[in-house]
Amino acid sequence: MSDDRRQPVILVTGAMGCVGAWALYHLVQRGLTAVSFDLSDNRSRLDLLLSRDEQQAITFVQGDLTDYAQVNAAFQNYHITHVIHLAALQVPFCRANPVLGAQVNVVGTVNIFEAARQNGVRHIAHASSVAIYGPAERYPTGLIAPDAPPDPTTLYGVYKVADEGIARVYWQDYGVSSIGLRPYTIYGLGRDQGLTSEPTKAMLAAAARRSYHISFGGVMQFQYASDVAQQFIDAALMPADGAPVFNLGGPPTPVETVADIIRRLRPGVEITVGDQRLPFPIGFDDTPLRQQFATVYETPLEVGIEQTLNRFECALREGLLA
Ligand SMILES: NC(=O)c1ccc[n+]([C@@H]2O[C@H](COP(=O)([O-])OP(=O)(O)OC[C@H]3O[C@@H](n4cnc5c(N)ncnc54)[C@H](O)[C@@H]3O)[C@@H](O)[C@H]2O)c1
Repeated sequence: MSDDRRQPVILVTGAMGCVGAWALYHLVQRGLTAVSFDLSDNRSRLDLLLSRDEQQAITFVQGDLTDYAQVNAAFQNYHITHVIHLAALQVPFCRANPVLGAQVNVVGTVNIFEAARQNGVRHIAHASSVAIYGPAERYPTGLIAPDAPPDPTTLYGVYKVADEGIARVYWQDYGVSSIGLRPYTIYGLGRDQGLTSEPTKAMLAAAARRSYHISFGGVMQFQYASDVAQQFIDAALMPADGAPVFNLGGPPTPVETVADIIRRLRPGVEITVGDQRLPFPIGFDDTPLRQQFATVYETPLEVGIEQTLNRFECALREGLLA
């Protein structure tokens, strides 16, 4: 059983992914004990953020979230006290393999909540997504209200709605509390897959002095992976009553503005933006997030892009990226 007086031991699922790698980075920076749990043992995203020496502070577990016995063993073997549950298959992967998508994104979430319950872990931070909402035309214009009804149009979004329901019932029936966060478009080092990864791919191209075409335009909220990871850490460490879920916010920004910033910061690189519009609202009202959290991490877009370009250039020089 976990003991609230012990030093936190924080399990990060999906830790080899983009947000996961940033979560490990910030946990190490904060001197907190991190246990990485991922199906993959490919540390290439983490290598962009921490040297192998620095990574020695982390315990790495290669495990499959869909297998309850493996999840439970991780909780038991490493005396987990806190959880940041990020592992998931993103939209294209759920579309390509709906059964595996459900196993990872839904059964995997049940496995995490159940292992927490069985091992006396009382609180979980977990990743939902704004993909639980429907297309813009189904809502009033402007920012989507925090209490707007879910209306997902992808299996991924449906699975995330299920995850929020799982969290709610684990509180109601077993007293396991949770905080869910719903990011929109995450950018930054390590964002190399998923529907909205192209703005970050444009940053990598610019760092390599190559041109890049972002295939979609439109307006969306961009959230820096570093900020998102910090918000998840705070969510995991913050006691909560219930199972609230919060939209992450930020200024609604045209994709063209991201291209402009990249072009301004790295003159001479050609970044273009296509006409296609993704069927998403321009943004989500984050008032409840601001009421719940003492700190909302919100690096200005220009600063986040500049840091990303600098870090990509450094990684390219060091041969960490092709
Ligand atoms: N990236 C975004 O813009 C965005 C937006 C909204 C929500 N989210 C959510 O935030 C979370 C983190 O996103 P990300 O961009 O870091 O994702 P990512 O795709 O970079 O990483 C996902 C990680 O999950 C791991 N994983 C997959 N199947 C697994 C399994 N069976 N067992 C253990 N690990 C497994 C993968 O190996 C990978 O390392 C996800 O839940 C995602 O749905 C992301």
